[in-house]
Amino acid sequence: MSYKSNILNKSIDETKQGDVFFKEQLASSEKGKNFYIESYGCQMNFSDSEIVASILGEMGYQATKNMEESDLILINTCSIREKAEDTVRKRLRIFDKIKAKKPGTLVGVLGCMAERLKTKLLEQERLVDLVVGPDAYRSLPQLVADASGGEKGINVLLSREETYADINPVRLNSNGVSGFISIMRGCNNMCSFCIVPFTRGRERSRDPFSIVAEASDLFNKGFREVTLLGQNVDSYLWENPETNETINFAQLMEMTAQIHPDLRVRFSTSHPKDITDEVLHTIAKYENICNYIHLPVQSGNSRVLKLMNRTYDREWYKERVESIYRIIPDCAISSDMIAGFCSETEEEHQDTLSIMEFAQYSMSYMFFYSERPGTLAAKKYEDDIPLEVKKRRLAEIIRLQNQISFSHNQKDIGKVYKVLIEGDSKKSDKDFKGRNSQNKMIIFPKKNDLNAGQYCYVKVTGATSATLKGEIVEH
Ligand code: SAH
Ligand code: SF4
Ligand code: F3S
Repeated sequence: MSYKSNILNKSIDETKQGDVFFKEQLASSEKGKNFYIESYGCQMNFSDSEIVASILGEMGYQATKNMEESDLILINTCSIREKAEDTVRKRLRIFDKIKAKKPGTLVGVLGCMAERLKTKLLEQERLVDLVVGPDAYRSLPQLVADASGGEKGINVLLSREETYADINPVRLNSNGVSGFISIMRGCNNMCSFCIVPFTRGRERSRDPFSIVAEASDLFNKGFREVTLLGQNVDSYLWENPETNETINFAQLMEMTAQIHPDLRVRFSTSHPKDITDEVLHTIAKYENICNYIHLPVQSGNSRVLKLMNRTYDREWYKERVESIYRIIPDCAISSDMIAGFCSETEEEHQDTLSIMEFAQYSMSYMFFYSERPGTLAAKKYEDDIPLEVKKRRLAEIIRLQNQISFSHNQKDIGKVYKVLIEGDSKKSDKDFKGRNSQNKMIIFPKKNDLNAGQYCYVKVTGATSATLKGEIVEH
């Protein structure tokens, strides 16, 4: 398809020109400086840190893993639950100590907590020099320069357009096999418990040709898996400003899958109200689009779902799960659950347990409700479930998920899966770790002629609730 590759080349060329311009403007003054970055929260935040690394790289800053030797310490923060913010505050105490030992070190808070707390962060955390929200990373060169001159730097403006489409992320802590690509930013769903729409702003979709260019570039560098990231990937919609033609998520996945059959495509997160049959058929059509869907349910009870403003009910969710298993029979589904949302009764909690049984999730991320200031739930509903009850309900959810994961994994014993090797297993350099299409981690003894980034076929020989064990077989 020539029109695609033309536009693709154009966007690569433009990126290069932009880079050169940027380098000339900024590099000379900051040569030889180091930055250290820690990231918390969702994959999108980790992916943003790679954009930040790229912007700082253009300024001449090198990434270091040693915070003691860095000139600039950055923490990319998450506000999703109170605990996430507590962790960040603890880390800031540690950074204070380094600043005391090495005056002149700059400390910057990036991401969702920066956006939520804005100038309050500078008041409460006196040793913070920079506060930069998720849409303001392009202003880092200026803000760092201001902070170096002793002036606190803050930019927390949210944007309706920013997608960082032209920035080529610097892969941090990468295994060289799987990379993450942000395809959209922000969120337009107002789930009543959630802070994200406030910290990340309005939803906007990134130019698909820049996404395909980034995925192709990763493939050419040896990567064999990309995960397309968004808070709600199913509402991805890009309109070509010249032709008014649109590209939806199913089409974007197809474009990415067509880069090369050896490039696996994953995606996260799907929203039950928006995931279409077109998306499911696209997954089924391409062997390299993984048979794995993260489809957070949050609650299994329709009244609670309504209070949560999830805009689907139990029946709708069950129908989506049935459609997934019908159209992609060997698909694995995972989920997020919140225990003890405002006014949730014991019976309603039981509905969450029963929908877990129904959906047979391979795994789940499970939380108890944490009220976030400024959200719809904080304004409208009382956070009235006692902490012990929230914790007990959460423990029941976790116990059940462990059982379901265990039996889900046991069913894999004897089956042969195509596995993408990610590297050595954590426990032994005699074993590889890799994932199957369903996103399950499999540990298996190495064979000499194989390396990370290659595919092999593995027969599953054993399973716990967390991992599979296996051995390589000819196929
Ligand atoms: N966009 C994704 C969720 C992103 S946040 C989606 O719509 O599914 C990741 C998860 O954190 C959510 O799915 C939810 O389960 C949990 N979460 C969000 N806000 C929370 C809160 N206030 N208390 C507890 N868990 C919360
Ligand atoms: Fe939050 Fe809902 Fe948006 Fe997910 S879809 S980020 S839970 S508002
Ligand atoms: Fe946290 Fe922000 Fe992600 S609040 S979950 S880092 S979008």
